[in-house]
Amino acid sequence: MSNFQKIGVVGAGMMGSEIALMFALAGYPTLLTDASRDAAERAVERLHGVLDRGLPRGFWTEEAAATARRQLSVAGDLDAYADRDFVVEAVFEDEALKRKIFGKLDAILAPGAGLASNTSSISITTLSAAVAEPRRARFIGTHFFSPASRMKLVEVIPAADTDPAFVDAVMKIMVAIGKTPIHVKDVVGFAVNRLLHALVLESIRLVEEGVCSPADIDVACKLGLGHPIGPFELMDNTQNSLSLSVHEILYQAYGERFLPRPLLRQMVAAGYNGRKAGRGWHRYDGTGKKQ
Ligand SMILES: NC(=O)c1ccc[n+]([C@@H]2O[C@H](COP(=O)([O-])OP(=O)(O)OC[C@H]3O[C@@H](n4cnc5c(N)ncnc54)[C@H](O)[C@@H]3O)[C@@H](O)[C@H]2O)c1
Repeated sequence: MSNFQKIGVVGAGMMGSEIALMFALAGYPTLLTDASRDAAERAVERLHGVLDRGLPRGFWTEEAAATARRQLSVAGDLDAYADRDFVVEAVFEDEALKRKIFGKLDAILAPGAGLASNTSSISITTLSAAVAEPRRARFIGTHFFSPASRMKLVEVIPAADTDPAFVDAVMKIMVAIGKTPIHVKDVVGFAVNRLLHALVLESIRLVEEGVCSPADIDVACKLGLGHPIGPFELMDNTQNSLSLSVHEILYQAYGERFLPRPLLRQMVAAGYNGRKAGRGWHRYDGTGKKQ
């Protein structure tokens, strides 16, 4: 176990709520907040539903689910975080908003408490500059994957001033909540998004060149490479506009090899944004089922 006892999570959306659930399942008292108390309460209700559904699939024991129900609580604002040892931020991907929250938390938390961001694209060193110098030794990136209750990987990303002992403590608490952390340098896209989008971009090039259809590439990745989902199915599930904006960020950082593809731009401009839109690389019926 790490030294952390009491946990806070800020942002009760898709990622934050499930990150809070992971801490609560491992027995940590966990406070969750969102832009309003109501939103955080709704998120905790949803998590109770996740706990109910998770049991038959065997993701956690009945005992852990009972513990999680007891350990999860909601805070109306960040003032309630004064006794937290470790706080994970998972609000919208907006640098100004994240900086504002970190500045506020820095003033509220005890000197020994640590902060983490779940950002997928903002530099951890840049975010760490939102807190006063002494706290920067205890500032880190913890990049979870969606859905955070199922995906085992967490990229742990130290900022320029992060203390190695704090990195170790964060690696340990990730293991304590059932995750497998890997150590990654603070570079744009970290490690996994660079790998994933190299594959995604090459997949789109294959379609542009008429080598394979999106459906055939999905089959190839699943049956030939052992991936659980094909790149076009994945883009449709997470929205094509998100992939395009990631490519733009990676292109800014690394140049030509991440140049956004014209075909993806066309799809996004046409509104063929994926499963939610009813059409992306594949077509979906009104219930979101692939046709
Ligand atoms: N969705 C993914 O697959 C994924 C994967 C890894 C990392 N991330 C990162 O995780 C973070 C959250 O992403 P998400 O997909 O959960 O987004 P989301 O939109 O589902 O959730 C963001 C939450 O932040 C809340 N919020 C906004 N302003 C707030 C404030 N002032 N105080 C407290 N809460 C506030 C929103 O109400 C919302 O509930 C982002 O930085 C994103 O880049 C997302």
